[in-house]
Amino acid sequence: MKLKLFLLIVVLTACNQSSSIHTNDENQASSHIDRRVDSVLSLMTLSEKIGQMNQYNGFWDVTGPVPAEGDAAKKYDHLKKGLVGSMLNIKGVEEVRRVQKIAVEETRLGIPLIIGFDCIHGYKTISPIPLAEAASWDMEAIRKSAEVAAAETAASGINWTFAPMVDVSRDARWGRVMEGAGEDPYLGSKIAVARVKGFQGEDLSATNTIAACAKHFAGYGFSESGKDYNTVDVGTSTLYNTIFPPFIAAKEAGVATFMNAFNELNGVPATGNKFLQRDVLKGDWDYNGFVVSDWGSIAEMIPHGYAENGRDAALKAIHAGSDMDMESYLYVAELESLVENKKVDVALIDDAVRRILKLKFELGLFDDPYKYCDLEREKSVVNSKENHDIVLDVARKSIVLLKNEGQLLPLKKEGQKIALIGALAADKNSPLGSWRLAAEDNSAISVLEGMQRYPANELMYAKGADVTIGETAFISEVTINTNDKSGFQEALNIAKKADKVVMVLGENGFQTGEGRSLANLDLPGVQQELLEAVFKVNPNIVLVLNNGRPLTINWAAEHIPAIVEAWHLGSESGHAIAQVLYGDYNPSGKLPMSFPKSVGQIPLYYNHKNTGRPSIPEPGLVFWSHYGDESNDPLYAFGHGLSYTHFDYSNLQIENNYPSKKSITVKVDLHNSGNYDGKEVVQLYLHDLFASVTRPVKELKGLEMVSLAKGESKTVEFVLTDKELGFFDNEGAWVIEEGKFEVFVGGSSQTTNMAAFEIK
Ligand code: NOJ
Repeated sequence: MKLKLFLLIVVLTACNQSSSIHTNDENQASSHIDRRVDSVLSLMTLSEKIGQMNQYNGFWDVTGPVPAEGDAAKKYDHLKKGLVGSMLNIKGVEEVRRVQKIAVEETRLGIPLIIGFDCIHGYKTISPIPLAEAASWDMEAIRKSAEVAAAETAASGINWTFAPMVDVSRDARWGRVMEGAGEDPYLGSKIAVARVKGFQGEDLSATNTIAACAKHFAGYGFSESGKDYNTVDVGTSTLYNTIFPPFIAAKEAGVATFMNAFNELNGVPATGNKFLQRDVLKGDWDYNGFVVSDWGSIAEMIPHGYAENGRDAALKAIHAGSDMDMESYLYVAELESLVENKKVDVALIDDAVRRILKLKFELGLFDDPYKYCDLEREKSVVNSKENHDIVLDVARKSIVLLKNEGQLLPLKKEGQKIALIGALAADKNSPLGSWRLAAEDNSAISVLEGMQRYPANELMYAKGADVTIGETAFISEVTINTNDKSGFQEALNIAKKADKVVMVLGENGFQTGEGRSLANLDLPGVQQELLEAVFKVNPNIVLVLNNGRPLTINWAAEHIPAIVEAWHLGSESGHAIAQVLYGDYNPSGKLPMSFPKSVGQIPLYYNHKNTGRPSIPEPGLVFWSHYGDESNDPLYAFGHGLSYTHFDYSNLQIENNYPSKKSITVKVDLHNSGNYDGKEVVQLYLHDLFASVTRPVKELKGLEMVSLAKGESKTVEFVLTDKELGFFDNEGAWVIEEGKFEVFVGGSSQTTNMAAFEIK
């Protein structure tokens, strides 16, 4: 009791000084927190310290397999003994208050819990899946979307999200591409910053911000053959130049925590990987937040073949720099005796606990452990009209117009008979995507509902065919409908009567996400057959894709005149899609990931290397880097995306101020020559022609969102500095080398609008 009182005094002193915590002098602020952290630490027993490093899943919900001994009784017991520092998957003010009360009122020191949750693309108001948002290339819209997620999450008692996932991936088979920003480290870095800033805001202690978590450190997006959790083996150049940059960007943006990963990296599981966590993250990058393990990933080092048993796994994880154990139950079971037996230096424990307590102070939890638990705020913030408006905005911006021949789009608003076909067209659940753990089922606006907002046309709907059979859920496999075509005839009947057909096809929202790898990327089930059957009776088809990953849609790309990539767009999906189809919003999205022609091309990415034999020497000769049965090109390239208007690029100019000012200025004229006002994402790519470590054929190094009224022109300018001109060498050092460069500026990675310069 005495100790608890003393802790209260320590904490109150911290709070009194908290007004100065967020002044301009951040160093002063952090040293205040550091002192308070040390005061608390000095009161703690070894087992209480280790308790802070222990994170349990809640008792009501799961996002992973629960270990046999993970029963609620044991967790309650540990909670009461002060052996739990954080919990996840507890949501809503009432639930959070219940567990927080135990930590604060029943444990010896009363240290509050951090409450974590996978708020990946929204809490109750669901945003587009992150891959979709990445297609907006609009950092402000992405930041605002994360802000909405943070506000709703924080209003529901939670103060930490396991997002953003910043894993670069080049493999559409990997189901978790839906959760990232695609294949490019530059775009991914910008988006990482936007998301961290959106979640965390300026002040972590505010009741509308939450701590973010950059995950999964590192290499998780490079799992062999796109199979989730699989082995990762990548070289230094890829690790530093492709995988690390978004993590560095998140760190620079002040991300509060990192999560390590399930995968092994070059033979060492990320969770036990000292090079990643201690040498790079906490060493080279001087990161002072904490690292949480992924779910059970400390224990998973045993089946990986890296740890002999649980004790060995705990030993390896703490040495490697994993500060908090999510659901392995191993720190709390093993660390105390490992310290007592001199296998683990208590300094490692103190370092981990300091990092964890620091965040608790920053979140304001010592000030008021129930500050995120205000029922009134929960009611007013969650699902507010304002939040829905913001996610509608980002949903529209995330849509990519892949093809529009014969000006089928935008649809006329009156006097048309429209046939709307596809189970996904009326689906109110799939658009919510995969990580929508707090959302109400079936709460999205469907395309059918969105199109009903345009009543001057006659709208006919037929399902055609189901995509899946039975219930779908976050944790279980989906069953695809591979033979029920009983709805085809009704679909054909309405297609025959229609002026235009809108077909909404693609993936169920639970076909992507964790554990959702696929070996086949065609339209699932009987949907391809349905598409071809409808095409035979009415070829005026607009294909709207709902999916969480690039798909192989070669037949559609060849035959269907208009294709709209609409992903899983969240709560406001149907409104966003209808507004684009009817031209109330002119699409501006660009692909953040290449669409393959066939699965055999994967990994397929625009920023590949050239090889020694990049092009065909003579027709018919085989000695060049290619496939005998498929082209090297993607179906739709990274950065591709059309508009209802047309943009012309001209007059690409370079002003070489290297080395005098160490900068290269690139200018290009952009003209809107079409019939609509519109927005273009102007993309700049660099090619470093020769270097001490070979460089990709093109690398995105600049992007500018430009709005132009029809007929309007603008000169767009980029300035390239050492930040854009250099790369990491194989020792991990940033180098700028003399030599020749090509610069490309245009509306996709396939632009040929090129100029050259040299660095001397
Ligand atoms: C496992 C996932 O890999 C991770 O991203 C997530 O945050 C945790 N489960 C918690 O749900």
